[in-house]
Amino acid sequence: MSIVENATQLAQGALQAVMKKAVELAPDSWIPGGVPDPLIQHKHGLVGTQVARLDGPLKVTGAARFAAEFPLETMVYAALTYSTIPKGRIATIDVAAAEALPGVVLVMTYKNAPRLNPTPAMLTAPKAIGGDQLPVMQDDRIHWNGEPVAVVLAQTQEQADHAASLIAVTYETEIAMTRFEDAKPDRAAASFMGAPMLIEIGDAEASLAAAPHSVDRTYRTPRHNHNPIELHGATLFWQGDELILHDASQCVAHVAWTLAQVFGVDEAQVHVTSPYVGGGFGSKTLWNHQILAAAAAKLAGRPVRIMLSREGVYRMVGGRTLTEQRVAIGAQADGHFDALIHTGVVAMTPHNSMPEPFILPSKSAYAAGSFLLNVDAVKLDMLANTFMRAPGESVGTFALESAVDELAVELGVDPIALRETNEPETNPTTGTPFSSRNIVAAYRSGAERFGWDKRNATPGTRREGEWLVGMGCATATYPYYRMPGGAARLTLTKDGHATVEIAAHEMGMGTATTHTMVLAERLGLPMDKVSFLYGDSKMPGVVLAGGSQQTASIGAAVIAAQNALFTELLKLAGNDSPLAGLKPSEVGGYEGGLCKLDDPSACESYVSILSRAQRDAVSVEAAGSAPLETQHWSMHSYGAMFAEVRVNAVTGEVRVSRFLGSFDCGKILNPKTATSQFRGGIIMGLGMALMEETQFDERTGRVMNPSLAEYHVPVHMDVPEIDVIWTDIPDPHAPMGAHGIGEIGITGVAAAVANAVFNATGKRVRDLPITLDKLL
Ligand code: MOS
Repeated sequence: MSIVENATQLAQGALQAVMKKAVELAPDSWIPGGVPDPLIQHKHGLVGTQVARLDGPLKVTGAARFAAEFPLETMVYAALTYSTIPKGRIATIDVAAAEALPGVVLVMTYKNAPRLNPTPAMLTAPKAIGGDQLPVMQDDRIHWNGEPVAVVLAQTQEQADHAASLIAVTYETEIAMTRFEDAKPDRAAASFMGAPMLIEIGDAEASLAAAPHSVDRTYRTPRHNHNPIELHGATLFWQGDELILHDASQCVAHVAWTLAQVFGVDEAQVHVTSPYVGGGFGSKTLWNHQILAAAAAKLAGRPVRIMLSREGVYRMVGGRTLTEQRVAIGAQADGHFDALIHTGVVAMTPHNSMPEPFILPSKSAYAAGSFLLNVDAVKLDMLANTFMRAPGESVGTFALESAVDELAVELGVDPIALRETNEPETNPTTGTPFSSRNIVAAYRSGAERFGWDKRNATPGTRREGEWLVGMGCATATYPYYRMPGGAARLTLTKDGHATVEIAAHEMGMGTATTHTMVLAERLGLPMDKVSFLYGDSKMPGVVLAGGSQQTASIGAAVIAAQNALFTELLKLAGNDSPLAGLKPSEVGGYEGGLCKLDDPSACESYVSILSRAQRDAVSVEAAGSAPLETQHWSMHSYGAMFAEVRVNAVTGEVRVSRFLGSFDCGKILNPKTATSQFRGGIIMGLGMALMEETQFDERTGRVMNPSLAEYHVPVHMDVPEIDVIWTDIPDPHAPMGAHGIGEIGITGVAAAVANAVFNATGKRVRDLPITLDKLL
């Protein structure tokens, strides 16, 4: 039997089991009418097929307009000057030379900047999205090395850049805390999203000490900077007290609300659009540049375009902080875990709210007799750190999954078998049942396809010329979230065209394409009769393209809107329709109209319903319900990651020669864009494993490699053939049966590579990135 058939049969069996369980238990809140959604109705079988990006031609021909491409009359260009000390105050700032240059329209410093309110930092209020809560250019204080100290507006970008370089600043420096080791004595337990991270179940230290087998290791991961291909930028202008901002954003409604607080205007007076975004990964939120550009535009009375240089992104857009993690596992001779300890320390600042929550994967990955999980944070004088693709899991799985591999070596068992031994029945730290967890199936099909049986368990035994060859694996895991706030407006016109509007985002993931497919399927319309409009804060909904939850959030809102639309249409159809007397839950969209679910002969087309009712259009707006499913169920995306590496015995160079991700993420809506999401995550994980590292000078708090020439990310030569497969088992408790897939791909990758490097060489590298000096 082929792997595909095997997986399909497995999927069907598992689907029947989970559907049965779903019906027995209370229905989930997002399901209209309390009837379990038939996952997605396969009317023309669109969902699950390969659909190319609808915006692809616009992007490759340059017709798609990104944030810094909106032309505005009388627009001027912004450039920034950055502080060169980590802490202190500006003693003098001389702007005369800059102001004297031709083309310069304005030089703004703390001396002439408009008075601004403090920025609400993310996680401090439902729509707060500031990277930190520091005042922006309001006084002479310096809080990090790289903080903007001046803004220049000029007729051209070149004039602005030149003028910014002529601004002369002297400082009174103060002693800054920039060394991690110096700050560690003041470590304190951190909380994440308002809750402490400490989990203690049983006496894990005692169980560890008593266990016949154990590992107890420290793993380190460095700072990482954000490098989306599209630099952070905005084009903006004021119309009276109204601010219109074309932004590169993964959170238009949040940016509008937060800017409104900063400028002391009503939320409705800030209009943020973001139709195309060249990657975000957690960085396209609200940083100083949008605030400074809007303040300078106000002062100058001119529209402003700001686009950060790559160095600018490193100076003032936060990245992932460093981590030092202890993972200790105590086990019985049969492999069962008695104790799982995952603790450690990260760096953050006094003015942001993001301690990298690296323990998240350890909360649910394995069963164990006892747990001790916690994250401490220290405060450094540096740029605020923030969310970066799979915050917590990407670096947390490096430590956890390396330690599991080390324990497998200690026990002399296969690392996949060890993971199966410790597969939990229910969430081991909450007791909540899993909604849909098929990680064992993902491992089995992945191992078969990758040829895991050809791996030699003894390290350093497979050599081809100068190259030592090894294989490693690791578990990928990332939670299912659905944030409240999803809402949608759905309009059906008399020509049978449906348009949904939602303040959501397309950062390159394929969202716009996939949700066009989903809506077309739900309404029974061809794709060219459906428009998905997004990327505008004036549209309904407060939707964050983050936490891999945008699809679930959109899905729940669209399901609610579809239910409202069907209600309206049935009212309009009235008693003369074949649909007379039916409830919204009794009809579905088929071939351009509504049909009774169990009797496809009872149908009326949308065009017919609207024309009989003499209506040009019907429009409804509805909100997705509260995400109660996450309270009833432990919900996650999963993957089994397999790496084959070749390590040069002479130079220590590591090449990843093959990679396979075997995923279990519920229903895959669009295999084409999903494959890209998985591959993109894996490529980012390869960068984390082998090259990415922000060089932070601990003497000065200055980032020393603020460019892609010195901060390495994978290029084509570094990326092998990446194979991607999935179970495609829908989760009946998630809208559309789908789990998020934006972040799962990066998780587990660094550990799979590190474990493969150990298998190839016998050398265990516990601090990322795995550079050749660590292997010689
Ligand atoms: Mo992400 S770090 O949720 O954009």
